[in-house]
Amino acid sequence: MVEANNDSFLKLKELKPDIVFNFAEGLSGFNRESQIPALLEMLQLPYSGSDALTLGICLDKSRAKEILTYHKISNAKFLVANRMEDIKNSSFDFPLIVKPISEGSSKGIFSSSFVKNKKELEDEVQRILSSYNQPALIEEFLPGREFTVAIIGNDDDANVLPIIEILYEDFPEDVVPLYSYEAKWILDTKENSFDVFECPAKINSKLEAEIKETVLRTYNVLRCKDWSRIDVRLDKKGIPNIIEINPLPGIMPDPNENSSFPKAARVAGMTYNQMIQNVLYSAAKRYDLL
Ligand SMILES: Nc1ncnc2c1ncn2[C@@H]1O[C@H](COP(=O)(O)OP(=O)(O)OP(=O)(O)O)[C@@H](O)[C@H]1O
Ligand SMILES: [Mg+2]
Repeated sequence: MVEANNDSFLKLKELKPDIVFNFAEGLSGFNRESQIPALLEMLQLPYSGSDALTLGICLDKSRAKEILTYHKISNAKFLVANRMEDIKNSSFDFPLIVKPISEGSSKGIFSSSFVKNKKELEDEVQRILSSYNQPALIEEFLPGREFTVAIIGNDDDANVLPIIEILYEDFPEDVVPLYSYEAKWILDTKENSFDVFECPAKINSKLEAEIKETVLRTYNVLRCKDWSRIDVRLDKKGIPNIIEINPLPGIMPDPNENSSFPKAARVAGMTYNQMIQNVLYSAAKRYDLL
């Protein structure tokens, strides 16, 4: 284990590992997840997962959405607000969702992030700008079913693991149908599991094929490597839209923690260790180490 801190460069230089399993979230800043991969690239050490560029792009949800839009991959219409003036003339249809542009684990996403009118929109944008010290991302709300999809491998060997659905019918009535901070961390604790996942999702083969095609195209267009978890929600016409791409997915080992990637791997018949090894082997193969 090498701690991802200011000493990592010299430690890795000395250790010269054959390959690194990277799951460093980084310390701070908008490019935090890119920091260790950039050091590893400089030291010419092979490592698992996406490179600094892909990690940096996906952490900025608006940059990732711009690329998806260029490649005609469906995603919610959006606007970035750097200041309050930026929403003055916005002409989106309510409801909308307002989120910090570069966070994960639902930080900054609460039931109040679902906004139904101009006043709520202003309040939420103000909250993000002042509390999170970063632009607010405003998106049209996708009202349909929500899925999260884990992928392992590269190119023709990229495999979609069993699709997970987030079941909103199990949510308490006063909680908005969002996989929000409340849902992930307050209602769901290790001691008191709030399991709203269904895996494999109960979907027909047409929808399954559409979701798989959309997430694999997204994975390739963003040049994800070895693994990722991609969040998807259906729009009002039932078309799968990309919510966001997690090229460095959370992998909490305890099943009671309800971490999605290990859950999909378990349903695919992998143990936790096999899951890690499959990701690592994908990387080793990519570097021609096998
Ligand atoms: N445009 C949208 N329409 C509908 N729901 C949305 C939209 N954007 C986000 N959500 C809801 O908010 C949740 C969190 O959003 P998002 O995945 O962008 O945040 P995150 O903090 O990066 O998540 P993660 O924990 O996966 O890193 C989604 O799972 C979804 O329920
Ligand atoms: Mg998400």
